[in-house]
Amino acid sequence: KYTKRIFSGIQPTGSVHLGNYFGAIWRWVELQNSNEAVLCSIADLHSITLPQNPQKLRENTLLMTATLIACGIDYKRSILFQQSKVSMHTELCWILSSITTMARLAHLPQFKEKSESLKNVPLGLYIYPVLQAADILLATHVPVGQDQAQHIQLAQDLVQIFNRQFGQTFPIPHTLINGPSQRIKSLRDPAKKMSKSHTDFKSRLNLLDEPDELLEKVKKAVTDFTSEVTYDPEKRPGIANLINIHSLFTGQTTEKICEEAVGLNTGQYKLKLADIVIEKLSPIRKDILRLTREPAYLDEVLKEGTERATELATSCWTEVTEKVFG
Ligand code: ADP
Ligand code: NA
Repeated sequence: KYTKRIFSGIQPTGSVHLGNYFGAIWRWVELQNSNEAVLCSIADLHSITLPQNPQKLRENTLLMTATLIACGIDYKRSILFQQSKVSMHTELCWILSSITTMARLAHLPQFKEKSESLKNVPLGLYIYPVLQAADILLATHVPVGQDQAQHIQLAQDLVQIFNRQFGQTFPIPHTLINGPSQRIKSLRDPAKKMSKSHTDFKSRLNLLDEPDELLEKVKKAVTDFTSEVTYDPEKRPGIANLINIHSLFTGQTTEKICEEAVGLNTGQYKLKLADIVIEKLSPIRKDILRLTREPAYLDEVLKEGTERATELATSCWTEVTEKVFG
């Protein structure tokens, strides 16, 4: 009944940085290109668990669609869709929420992290992982970063609870952690991951940054007081992060990169790396900007993806409703 399908999702937030690019989008493109069935969801339902401006949300949805296409997601091969347009995701979330306990959700780290600074915590933020479980129950494989492992565990538990209560329905979703597990680090504090939630905008390289911004940020990246270019993620995390980015862009090994950098100090090496980053990101940036000028085309892409995602979800949903409601 189920073939192997890969589920991935990304929130329609404005800027995509190199962490999202190498840690997520790049992997989906690789999976797609090795002929896997990839469902790629623009997770706007997840976004509204924190306040959003509707006009901005719509803009960001189109921008994320443009970004995914510019990065190599082929909407004919993969299913690129807007989460809120496939209402079965929300409906399945409701059913799953009825077999989830509040205690099970309370200690999930992402909730803790996101709710910490809030006076009034939205219920949506609390049950966010249940919606995520609903998303992935349609797939059998889920490519994730390490930070999502506990949410996948919840989805696996819910499958077991559901199947026990209502009879075998869902396969257990498997995790697919492909590619380098190395996180891209903040340029300003290599002890932290590169993230859009850091207030210092110089800490991340965005796909939409202008060449001179990229140069400026790479130049200002925090390294250490050793001038040689050597790769030691433990002792020299700053320069190692830059070498990792270099390696991901060019496919060269970190050894080879250091070999070629003999005689350069870290300052000179940064200029060389900035050239590479600019060369690799410029065509992507141009593509994103070109596509955002064609909203009708992007809407058409999303519409087609939504139709295909709906078709996929329907057979599963029919079975679920029969089992739950008799
Ligand atoms: P952010 O930390 O910027 O808010 P998200 O949590 O929205 O990023 O993550 C979106 C996707 O990008 C996830 O799959 C996540 O694992 C991946 N990702 C985010 N930051 C990094 C990073 N610094 N290195 C590698 N992957 C990352
Ligand atoms: Na985050």
